[in-house]
Amino acid sequence: MPLSQIPVAVLGATGSVGQRFVSLLDNHPWFKVVALAASDRSAGQKYSQAARWVLDDPMPAYARDMLVVPASTDCIDAKIIFSALHTEIANEVEPQFAQAGAAVCSNASSYRRGIDVPLLLPEINADHVQLVKHQRASRGWSGCIVTNPNCTSTGLTIALKALDNAFGVKQVIAVSLQALSGAGYPGVPSLDIMDNIIPNVANGGEEEKVEWEPRKMLGTLNENKIEMADITFSAHTNRVAVIDGHTVCASVKLEEAVEPEAAIQALREFTSHHSARDLPSSPRPVIEVREEADRPQPRLDRLAGKGMTTVVGRVRRDPILGLKFVVLSHNTIRGAAGASIYNAELLVNEGLL
Ligand SMILES: NC(=O)c1ccc[n+]([C@@H]2O[C@H](COP(=O)([O-])OP(=O)(O)OC[C@H]3O[C@@H](n4cnc5c(N)ncnc54)[C@H](OP(=O)(O)O)[C@@H]3O)[C@@H](O)[C@H]2O)c1
Repeated sequence: MPLSQIPVAVLGATGSVGQRFVSLLDNHPWFKVVALAASDRSAGQKYSQAARWVLDDPMPAYARDMLVVPASTDCIDAKIIFSALHTEIANEVEPQFAQAGAAVCSNASSYRRGIDVPLLLPEINADHVQLVKHQRASRGWSGCIVTNPNCTSTGLTIALKALDNAFGVKQVIAVSLQALSGAGYPGVPSLDIMDNIIPNVANGGEEEKVEWEPRKMLGTLNENKIEMADITFSAHTNRVAVIDGHTVCASVKLEEAVEPEAAIQALREFTSHHSARDLPSSPRPVIEVREEADRPQPRLDRLAGKGMTTVVGRVRRDPILGLKFVVLSHNTIRGAAGASIYNAELLVNEGLL
């Protein structure tokens, strides 16, 4: 635990993920929000005027009167930068903060594939955070960039890690049913999504992320390099008319035939890497397994473990690949803002700030 609260800032603070940051950072035991940044449209306004607040919890009192600033190193002095910027803006802005000495914990996809950039889910690959030492040496900056995965990869990869540890995973077919908040605010027009399902989320790119990112996270840190997991993925991604909570239906081929009961036991018994177990945002439990035939459901299960727990259900035999299940994860909490905050806590705990 740090001796005093660490100053942090949120970039993209008015958006879908940014609002989650503002909410989750209220009364955080280690972090104190000193700046909220957004585009020129919002800069100069009070946060309560600039943000069209869409969360169920009220806007935290600390944020209401803060003046929104531009996402620039000239305007922000913070040790940790939480980035909820779109990729094209993050591309440019995030390295500027890392160069200026800040630890950037990013939701954007810009640097996820960087060979010296950790792509983290601390409960499964906390050891990958050590890559920042190599990143600092190779890029010559005192700050760093660490990333969290795409919100659809998140719950799927956590469930797969439990199965991979126990039995070895070879192949995965995944079909997503993704919530509207994953498209940001205001997101998908109501006349497009009501009475409808939209395949090929975000006009492409999402399926490639779900097929690539888990392989990096399930990979092994070897010296200064991640060796990608030797698992083949095939993904279909779909947007559905759910507000929060991404569901993924997965069929999995393991190295050996496994009874569903054994898979359930492996999922239930999975515990985090020791350095990620007792942080303020650690999921408790990491994985919850439901045995009802009709769970998990987004409305009923997305807030398990304050939105940080991965919920798995319908673990059963698959006649083609061997095993299948449904996994649910809160996309703007475990899949976005909560993920970056957890990553920042890991950096602090490992003495890497
Ligand atoms: N939503 C999810 O579930 C989810 C999950 C994982 C990752 N992500 C990623 O997180 C990032 C944010 O997504 P979102 O859904 O929160 O988007 P969003 O609702 O559209 O919010 C975008 C934010 O960026 C700000 N912004 C726009 N242009 C800017 C500029 N030139 N300079 C500084 N700030 C600027 C906006 O400010 P104004 O209000 O002033 O326009 C707003 O605060 C994206 O990279 C996304 O892929 C999202």
